[in-house]
Amino acid sequence: MRVVLVGPPGAGKGTQAQFIASHLSIPKISTGDIFRANVSGGTPLGKLAKEYMDRGDLVPDEVTIAMVRDRLSEDDAQAGFLLDGFPRNVPQAEVLKKMLADWGVALDAVLELKVDDEEVIRRLSGRRTCRSCGKVWHIVFDPPSTEGRCDACGGELFQRDDDREETIRRRLEVYQEQTAPLISFYTDEQILVSVDATGPVDEVTQRAMAVLRRFA
Ligand code: AP5
Ligand code: ZN
Repeated sequence: MRVVLVGPPGAGKGTQAQFIASHLSIPKISTGDIFRANVSGGTPLGKLAKEYMDRGDLVPDEVTIAMVRDRLSEDDAQAGFLLDGFPRNVPQAEVLKKMLADWGVALDAVLELKVDDEEVIRRLSGRRTCRSCGKVWHIVFDPPSTEGRCDACGGELFQRDDDREETIRRRLEVYQEQTAPLISFYTDEQILVSVDATGPVDEVTQRAMAVLRRFA
């Protein structure tokens, strides 16, 4: 299955992507994760992306699209994939559509995760990520047993640079201006499904899987 996850920052795309991808036996491809790996690796792509990410702006389309094209060309993405964080605007969606059509395939479904701005702020301000294994925690909603340490691997937890309040606000603006138009784009394509992304993580996964199974 070829699926796109869309939703505001902090909607739980990364959290849900790992469960949904594993239920559907497809790779999860997160543009945010790929950019962050490049930032920590100090690559030229990472240096360029960091400037935009720290402001809460989108990394330029040409860079992002080339990166996604390379990743989707890998063997493990041929039978299906779950995209988390791409496309992020209508031009990216149009390029993706054309790219897949050239390969003789198309998206099966676009899953929108719906949460309001207040919940976004609560989720992002409490998010902590493990420096060693990348697992995402929340200081209130999913706290580790030892403060500041990852239960999975014992690694140190840190707060993302773009989870500062003024950057969160900018990311929400960018979402409304640039990403929200994808909802009508994919409604017109008749592949959009929306779920309420509030409530416990496993309940959101169940809602998501119930709607995605209709497209499988
Ligand atoms: P990206 O990493 O994609 O950031 P984002 O869209 O802002 O999404 P987040 O990762 O912040 O949130 P999420 O929805 O994954 O939530 P999570 O599961 O962690 O992008 C970062 C930057 O990269 C962009 O700003 C841009 O600069 C650049 N970029 C990326 N893609 C790009 C593109 N295509 N084009 C251009 N630039 C691009 O959950 C959040 C917190 O809530 C966690 O602590 C979690 O534990 C908690 N939580 C999750 N679910 C629940 C629940 N049900 N109940 C309670 N708490 C929950
Ligand atoms: Zn860890």
